[in-house]
Amino acid sequence: MIEIRGVTKRYGPKVAVSDLNLSVPDGELFAFLGPNGAGKTTTIKMLCGLLFPTEGTVKVGGYDLRTQGDEARQLELRPRPAVPVRKAQWPRVLAVHL
Ligand SMILES: Nc1ncnc2c1ncn2[C@@H]1O[C@H](COP(=O)(O)OP(=O)(O)O)[C@@H](O)[C@H]1O
Ligand SMILES: [Mg+2]
Repeated sequence: MIEIRGVTKRYGPKVAVSDLNLSVPDGELFAFLGPNGAGKTTTIKMLCGLLFPTEGTVKVGGYDLRTQGDEARQLELRPRPAVPVRKAQWPRVLAVHL
């Protein structure tokens, strides 16, 4: 479960993500699309705990990435039909796509 609530991310004066709200239930296939500069990479980095929101909260599996990042990364992802991938590997796995 992914829960993004009221997330704004600024790089200095630059607003990269503006008041984003997004909820993705367990097991749901979700396409995260947008033009260049829309804030996709910034959002994914916040989901990995690599960046923190300027405002708002980002939770994975109920854990706030700001305060409970270690717990969030202990959760297991189970891509189907493949082998379980630990969320601890997210930053490395996602780094390929960032
Ligand atoms: N490190 C950064 N410093 C300043 N501005 C940034 C930085 N990273 C991204 N941006 C800006 O934030 C906006 C969103 O970028 P990004 O999250 O990379 O979008 P996307 O992945 O959808 O192309 C863009 O305007 C981009 O130029
Ligand atoms: Mg990008």
